[in-house]
Amino acid sequence: MSTNLVWHPQKINKHDRAALNHQKPFVIWLTGLSGSGKSTIANALDAYMYKHGFHSYLLDGDNVRHGLNKDLGFDQLSRVENIRRIGEVSKLMVDAGLIVITAFISPYLSDRNMVRSMFDDTEFIEVFVDTPLAVCETRDPKGFYKKARQGIIKEFTGIDSPYEIPNQAEITLHTDKQTIDAELSQILTYLAERQLVNLQTV
Ligand code: ADX
Repeated sequence: MSTNLVWHPQKINKHDRAALNHQKPFVIWLTGLSGSGKSTIANALDAYMYKHGFHSYLLDGDNVRHGLNKDLGFDQLSRVENIRRIGEVSKLMVDAGLIVITAFISPYLSDRNMVRSMFDDTEFIEVFVDTPLAVCETRDPKGFYKKARQGIIKEFTGIDSPYEIPNQAEITLHTDKQTIDAELSQILTYLAERQLVNLQTV
């Protein structure tokens, strides 16, 4: 724990950087089970943003765990620390004027709410990728559910580790009933209604 620290004011702030980028910075926080479709949606949204001239950046659980968070496992404390770090990184990126898209299981309500509290009201948009466990398990793109059922992987979310359903998500997606285009359009419509992106580009 650091002591004897004083926050140093910086001349250029979030609003200056956002103005330079001609956009409002915010976080799209995708949460849901492994295999729910978070990464697919996050990538589609990131690609859409890029194509339309927005400065966005995607933080994905599987990738961030190869670098910044490679020291963390999947016990409860590690998952809490995983999300705390991603919250802080997202905060820095929003401060840099970027649109941040995150794709982490982020299974605990309290962690998601903790990250939410780091941002202004309009800056944090929680997207619940509400795909039933049975569907995720059937998809099993990495074969992890099978291994978790066999006890080869321990503390797997949805099997022997909890997932706490969001109670204040701004957007809920049903990937078992919607196409990826419909999901993207649902997110973009929300962003346009909140005037976070310009209607003309949607
Ligand atoms: S979180 O729970 O800490 O938010 P995160 O999104 O970073 O998880 O990583 C989840 C990914 O790690 C899964 O998509 C899966 O590929 C992999 N993984 C490996 N072991 C586990 C496990 N025990 N529980 C969940 N995901 C796991």
